[in-house]
Amino acid sequence: MDTVELANQKQMPILGYGTWRNDNPKECIEGVKDAISVGFTHIDCASAYENEELVGQGIKESGIDRTDLFITSKLRNSAHGYTQVRKEVEETLEKLGTDYLDLYLIHWPVVKGKDGDWQTDNRETWRAFEELYEEGILKSIGVSNFSIKHLKNLINHCKITPMVNQIKVHPGIVQNELHEFCVENNIVIQAYSPLAPIKDISKEPRVKEMMEKYGKTVAQLLLRFDLQKDVVPLTKTVHRSRMEENIAIFDFEIDADDMDFFNQWSHADYQIPDNERERG
Ligand SMILES: NC(=O)c1ccc[n+]([C@@H]2O[C@H](COP(=O)([O-])OP(=O)(O)OC[C@H]3O[C@@H](n4cnc5c(N)ncnc54)[C@H](OP(=O)(O)O)[C@@H]3O)[C@@H](O)[C@H]2O)c1
Repeated sequence: MDTVELANQKQMPILGYGTWRNDNPKECIEGVKDAISVGFTHIDCASAYENEELVGQGIKESGIDRTDLFITSKLRNSAHGYTQVRKEVEETLEKLGTDYLDLYLIHWPVVKGKDGDWQTDNRETWRAFEELYEEGILKSIGVSNFSIKHLKNLINHCKITPMVNQIKVHPGIVQNELHEFCVENNIVIQAYSPLAPIKDISKEPRVKEMMEKYGKTVAQLLLRFDLQKDVVPLTKTVHRSRMEENIAIFDFEIDADDMDFFNQWSHADYQIPDNERERG
C-alpha cells in the first residue's frame, strides 16, 4: 500500500483498519487477522476501546512481522498529565504485544478533572509524549479531535508540532478551515468514521449514478473521497468481504464534479463532534 510521509519522514499507509466498538473477543481477533491477510498494514487502536489485548492477539496470530505494520494507539482521557503517560504507554505496549508504537495520539483535547485548564493540561501531557518520542518508544506523535486553537496551544508552546490530527471527515463534515491549517503546518489528517453517512448518502440519485459510472460501492466512493482530499481514512468492519471491498479503492479516481458534490453535501444528522465538552 502507498504511504504518506509525516513531518519526521516516517511513512504511514494511506488507509487504516479501525478497531472501535470491536469488543467481541472472537470477532475482534478474527477481524484483525482477516484485515491483515486482506492487506491492511495500518491498525488504529485506543486504550479507551478496551480491546487492545484482543487486537494484540489478532496481530500475533496473523504471523505478520511487526516491522510490516503501522500501529497507532491513543491516550485515554483519564490518563492526561505528564506523570501518567509513560505508564499508560507501557500498558498499551504490553497489551498489543509490541515494544514501540508507530503513532500515539492524545485522544481528546478537553478532559474532566483539569479545572477547565485544557491549555496547561495538553502542554504537560504533550511534554511526556515528546520524551517518549525522543526515546524511540513512540515513532511518531499526534493528536485527535483537536481544533485550530488546541493545535496552536501545542505548536506555540511545545518543541514538537503534532504530526497527525485524527478527526471526523466525510461528506457532511469536511472541516475545511481546520484542514487548511493542518496542511499549512505539515500535520497529516486521519479521517475517522468515513462511512458514517453511508445510509443517507446512498439515497441520493447522484450517488446511485456514481456507483454505475465508477463501478464502485458507496463505501468505496466514501473512502476514495477522503483519499483524494489527502486525508487517511480509517475504516472498521468485522466482515472479510467488506474488508476486501474497502481496500479496493486504489484503481479509480472520482472526478472534480463528483468531488464537489460530496464536498457540498450536507445533512442535519452530521455535525462536527463537540470537542469543547469535558470528556471523561
Ligand atoms: N479519534 C476518535 O475520536 C475516533 C472516533 C471514532 C472512530 N475512531 C477510529 O476510526 C475508526 C473508523 O471509524 P468507524 O469505526 O466509525 O468506521 P467506519 O468504517 O466509518 O464505520 C464502521 C461501520 O461501518 C460498517 N461498514 C464497514 N464497511 C462497510 C461496507 N463496506 N459497507 C457497509 N457498511 C460497512 C461497519 O459494520 P460491520 O463491522 O458490521 O461491517 C461499522 O458498523 C474506528 O474504528 C476507530 O479506530 C476514532
